[in-house]
Amino acid sequence: MVGKTTQELASLRVGDSLPVLVGPLGTPTHIEKYGRVVAVGGGIGVAPLHPIVEGMKAAGNHLTVIAGARTRELVILESEMRALADDYIVVTDDGSYGRKALVTQPLKELCEGPEPPDLVIAIGPPIMMKFCAETTRPYGVRTLVSLNTIMVDGTGMCGGCRVNVGGKTRFVCVDGPEFDGHQVDFDNMIARLGAYRDQEKRARDHACRLQALAEKNPHA
Ligand code: FES
Repeated sequence: MVGKTTQELASLRVGDSLPVLVGPLGTPTHIEKYGRVVAVGGGIGVAPLHPIVEGMKAAGNHLTVIAGARTRELVILESEMRALADDYIVVTDDGSYGRKALVTQPLKELCEGPEPPDLVIAIGPPIMMKFCAETTRPYGVRTLVSLNTIMVDGTGMCGGCRVNVGGKTRFVCVDGPEFDGHQVDFDNMIARLGAYRDQEKRARDHACRLQALAEKNPHA
């Protein structure tokens, strides 16, 4: 949860509804038989990775999934991923489940191994995707990253999702969300991710104050 809207989304329960849902937007993931595909998911990044893994598996790829989380409770979709993957590696920051490691460690080992990946897809926090791209760069392994976290309206109108890819400005919601990780200017993206932090905080505080007021005067 970052601001008011994500707070409202997170408060939804099973059976609740949204007034409008727009999609699909952007460009679809290109699915084909690459050979050996390594899918790296960090935290909730495992969720958007799941349908990609499903598609890549159906296309005949050998799939290794590396799932990373801060701690055991935050590992998601494990049984679903295990059912699809030829190899499933789980790592946690605190060592409470799987290996105590960052996702880049098993990724580096795979790149150095006898059968290096033909394609890596990484989805997770921008800093994780940056270091996945830096890990594969010296081995020349093509690495796709999904920059969906920078999107705001998702429709190409607000311009909030501008990123620099290979020296060109691209819109994540129109041109992406997947890009060549070796071409993405992650430092610029990470700096811009905090661009609306003050507005988000103000909106959240305002919503909290309204809620507190409503609770104090339920009949007002
Ligand atoms: S998210 Fe607004 S233009 Fe892309």
